[in-house]
Amino acid sequence: MDIHPDIKEVLITKEEIQKKIDELAKQISRDYQSGELVLVSILKGGVIFLADLSRKLTIDHSFDMVGAMSYGSSTTSSGNVIITKDIDIEVTGKDVLLIEDIYDTGRTLRAVRDLIMLHSPRQIDICVLLYKEKKNRAVELPIKYIGFHIPDVFVVGYGLDYSEKYRNLEYIGVLKESVYS
Ligand code: IMP
Ligand code: MG
Repeated sequence: MDIHPDIKEVLITKEEIQKKIDELAKQISRDYQSGELVLVSILKGGVIFLADLSRKLTIDHSFDMVGAMSYGSSTTSSGNVIITKDIDIEVTGKDVLLIEDIYDTGRTLRAVRDLIMLHSPRQIDICVLLYKEKKNRAVELPIKYIGFHIPDVFVVGYGLDYSEKYRNLEYIGVLKESVYS
């Protein structure tokens, strides 16, 4: 496998991610038999996960996206979440599954969940590819589907960026320190 020169270590390989998405898709396809499932992903990091997961689901569903920003160009959360785009499609009375790349402080997911609640879905659940293990998380939320538990380190790839770079990597990796300085 070719590794980007800025990457120090690969945490999760492309193959491991794809295998996990197969498993999650099977489970989600079993769990949502209402025929009214809407996947809602969070721009921009969540869309790669959404694109792969959606194509593995064996049940009919639609999807939409919400715009949210919390990170600047640093590697720590700025604390306040700005919503830049609401959903376009009608989710009233439907089952919404939020699709996000990572559960970090939980602020983004809470803000997006609160936004979707205003549209009165029947239920709203959360699916994250990565679950960061943290001692003191700002916002605790129930996460229904989790791809991988990872340590509290800054990661890039598979949708996750550092200053808008590395989203296209097919694996999850840790950046070299020299990249930040
Ligand atoms: P939260 O609001 O702190 O949970 O942060 C969620 C958002 O911050 C995610 O949607 C990511 O865009 C970004 N983020 C959190 N942790 C990382 C990381 O390790 N690498 C890259 N982006 C991250
Ligand atoms: Mg980001």
